[in-house]
Amino acid sequence: MPNTIVLGSQWGDEGKGKIVDGLAANADVVVRFQGGANAGHTVVVEGKKYVLHLIPSGILSKTAVNIIGNGCVVDVIELAAELEYVAKEGLEVTPQRLRVSGGAHMVTPFHRLFDQMLGAHIGTTGRGIGPAYRDKARRVGVRLESLVDDTWRDKVKTLGEEYRHLARCVYDQEFPPVEEIIAQMEPAVAVVKEFVGDTQAELFEALQAGKSILFEGAQGTLLDIDHGTYPFVTSSSTTIGGAYTGSGVFVDFDHRIAVVKAYTTRVGNGPFPTELTDEMGALLQKKGHEFGATTGRPRRCGWLDLPLLARSAMANGFNEIALTKLDCLSGIDPIKVAVGRTPSGEIEYVELPGWSENIESVQKVGDLPEACKDYVQFIEDQLGIPVRWVSVGPDRAQTMTREIP
Ligand code: IMP
Repeated sequence: MPNTIVLGSQWGDEGKGKIVDGLAANADVVVRFQGGANAGHTVVVEGKKYVLHLIPSGILSKTAVNIIGNGCVVDVIELAAELEYVAKEGLEVTPQRLRVSGGAHMVTPFHRLFDQMLGAHIGTTGRGIGPAYRDKARRVGVRLESLVDDTWRDKVKTLGEEYRHLARCVYDQEFPPVEEIIAQMEPAVAVVKEFVGDTQAELFEALQAGKSILFEGAQGTLLDIDHGTYPFVTSSSTTIGGAYTGSGVFVDFDHRIAVVKAYTTRVGNGPFPTELTDEMGALLQKKGHEFGATTGRPRRCGWLDLPLLARSAMANGFNEIALTKLDCLSGIDPIKVAVGRTPSGEIEYVELPGWSENIESVQKVGDLPEACKDYVQFIEDQLGIPVRWVSVGPDRAQTMTREIP
């Protein structure tokens, strides 16, 4: 059975959740391998919108097993809340349908407080992601296996005392007492602990059995801790390498899918070469409803940047593209695309003709306006990677498959 990885090729929010959801129907296992509740995957099924932060989008497929791998950081309070949300929406989540790696690290309320205190210059989501990965690297983190052997309280206590000391002595702030935080975590721990297991072995077994595995990236390549726009990045490996370390298995991916938004967006701070700070940027923001699913923050918008996408492809070995939000470019004419940089660093753009038609209900790529088809072809030709899917709206039904000769 084919194995697939779906990754964001830009700064996140490319529409990965929707593409994963479409593919999850045929997958036996769906895996998240990095990040935490900083992600916000929006999926619309039959007009109903679901926003998931940590649980893989495969939960909407009704049959797939979903894995939160060891490369993730898990806020147990958030996960318990998300489990409740998903159950309320009528989706079945049992420990058979959702597995959480004992090797994943815990995000505690202390990490959250610390992130909110110090993450502003990066423009983090404030979810405690950076501090939790920091503790993983410092080798003082609390892994989820400690929920099972019941050692988490002592570990959180030691860590919490350190954070309280740091906050008080270095930043002149008072964090809540450790006992209060532990009490806050207790009900969530009781829920989450049922889902914790050895996901590396489980995933290996599924691979051996020839099951079809789908890896779901969070954030985007340009937010990768190594390959992104450092230091304005997230704290995990969002690229294909992260899939291996973050799950503990080798997978020979048949499909390495780049999710590419038809223009570019970014939330948080940091460089954005094709950013539009004028009315065009505001128009893209409005047309694309570019507001963060996790934080509600408005996203910065700009033209498509092909040299950055080429770098992204370098890191991931993409062999297919899913092009999303093409409908948001309707009515913009001409459309600019960055194709290079001059020796002095100026951005070189080409102008492509736009189209005026509303394409949200187009069902076949052949029925798209000529200029729209040309835009898709231009991206494919420039990157040398086939565009296999074109998405023209948030619903499951608004994705077209493109024939590749
Ligand atoms: P952190 O991941 O919360 O530490 O935030 C680091 C940077 O990554 C900030 O610029 C965030 O806005 C960005 N970021 C984190 N998660 C996402 C996401 O899911 N989509 C887009 N940007 C994200």
